[in-house]
Amino acid sequence: MPAEPALPTVRTIPALRERIAAWREADESVALVPTMGALHAGHLSLVALARSRCRRVVVSLFVNPTQFAANEDLSAYPRDESGDAAKLAREGVELLFAPSVGEMYPQGFATQVTVSALTRHLCGPHRPGHFEGVATVVTKLLLQALPDIAVFGEKDWQQLQVIRRLALDLNIPVEILGAPTVREPDGLAMSSRNAYLTQEERRIAASLNRVLGDLAHALAAGEPCRAAEEKALRRLLEQGFTSVDYVTVADAETLQPIDRLGARPARAFAAARLGRTRLIDNLPIPGM
Ligand code: PAF
Repeated sequence: MPAEPALPTVRTIPALRERIAAWREADESVALVPTMGALHAGHLSLVALARSRCRRVVVSLFVNPTQFAANEDLSAYPRDESGDAAKLAREGVELLFAPSVGEMYPQGFATQVTVSALTRHLCGPHRPGHFEGVATVVTKLLLQALPDIAVFGEKDWQQLQVIRRLALDLNIPVEILGAPTVREPDGLAMSSRNAYLTQEERRIAASLNRVLGDLAHALAAGEPCRAAEEKALRRLLEQGFTSVDYVTVADAETLQPIDRLGARPARAFAAARLGRTRLIDNLPIPGM
């Protein structure tokens, strides 16, 4: 059997910068794909998009402790660096950046990036501190690598808008690209957290996308937003979700909840819990 290709891995910021500087010397473009590992086909689609745009692709693997609240799943979060590295090597990724917590947050670390407005809605109130953790680590990764582009999944639509905002506001010279959500055959959005689901929960989980799709179509057909949202909420609970953080329609860019569709693009968003697993998904409203 041919040997698996090895993936060059660096764990320090100077080593990352040294590799990228050599590519820059040769006038090569660089893409960054930030991840927390436990890679699935969704992540590999981000890599493919990065690869279609740049000569060199760097993937970061860092389970960022500051984006998990005290009651969340940091210690249980799936970790498989060697499995991830093998997948990335097969995709032709040139470099894995896998820093330690100490490398990213040295002793005395005291700076936080807060993106206001966008984080007041959807997941923001349900995950206090989460977006500060994301915004801070992504700002650091962008400044460490200074890539031409960075790619994030549309499944985390709110995160994508927050990252676009911070790059713009902080004048970080990078193009932020969103990649479409990759789904299982039954419609469930791929997520590292799907690994937590029991067989029964996995069956119920598929209904999140169906309910959201029906909500989006009902809105496109002119049903009033509040009534359609209430129906979707009832259906999620009937399907077996333990609780629903939100199921709502909001402006696709500002994320402000909306009462009635207008000229601006809107999306349907949901976050719901199945036992200890929190799932999120979002869809465009057809025709918008
Ligand atoms: O989407 C994720 O995996 C994480 O939130 C990110 C962007 C890598 C930051 O830790």
